[in-house]
Amino acid sequence: MESMSEQVVEARDAILSYRLFQPEVAIILGSGLADLANHAEHASAIPYAAIPHFPNTNAAGHPGKLIFGFLGGLKVVLLQGRAHRYEGWSDDKVCFPTRCLQALGARTLVITNAAGGLNPRFRQGELMLVDEHLDLLWGKHRAVAADGGSPVKFPLGSRHSPYDIQLLQRVRKLARQQDTVLHQGCYLATLGPTYETRAEYRMFRWMGADAVGMSTIPEVLTASQLGMRVMAISVITNVASTDAPQATSHAEVVETGKQASERLTQLIVGLLDSMSGEPD
Ligand code: HPA
Repeated sequence: MESMSEQVVEARDAILSYRLFQPEVAIILGSGLADLANHAEHASAIPYAAIPHFPNTNAAGHPGKLIFGFLGGLKVVLLQGRAHRYEGWSDDKVCFPTRCLQALGARTLVITNAAGGLNPRFRQGELMLVDEHLDLLWGKHRAVAADGGSPVKFPLGSRHSPYDIQLLQRVRKLARQQDTVLHQGCYLATLGPTYETRAEYRMFRWMGADAVGMSTIPEVLTASQLGMRVMAISVITNVASTDAPQATSHAEVVETGKQASERLTQLIVGLLDSMSGEPD
């Protein structure tokens, strides 16, 4: 049985045999947000199925392709779709693509997701910058070495925020310039796959979350532990109703994601633009 770092090297080499390319920024696209990849110039796609050890995602709104190209003047790699714990993938498999993105050379990871809004100020289709999280997938044990091999020894209890302050400030400024509503808050990750009951939405709000989803934190923690700069943005695809009975469907989530996709694209392209030419 190969070690995790050997698997990462094998996957990376398979990807590089399709296209020799060292991305500066990696972007993970959430449910209904795959369209951002269509803006990449000189793009080429690799199906996940062609990459050894890569989890091949099946969720609706997740095409399952790796896209290489140029966005905002930077070399980027985009993950059109991600694996979720609720599909039955292990924590290691969910984090595997992030390890590969880092092994390809990407130093910055931008993560997008679809989320249910818990903060009563949020409206459907608005965006939220994640500046804190509640990890109900309990990934705290995930200590990885930079080579993806044996665990890093963290001092017991140590923690720093994985969300890069400079990226956060930069994207907030851009949102103001673009007249885009950009909230900032706490993302809670739950296992799913069902959306929440009203009582659960109420509980999550009470716990301090502004939005709830089923992804992102595994990738955030892995990338941060591998030394990448991390930013995460949620598209509020539905507003959780804690009082009136109201059902949420995956179709609604994907559709709202698509509608918000243009504003999200503008914001991310603007961010990459502001990063290009930046010293290392
Ligand atoms: N709950 C959990 N995950 C989600 C939701 C939600 O309401 N909306 C989009 N992803």
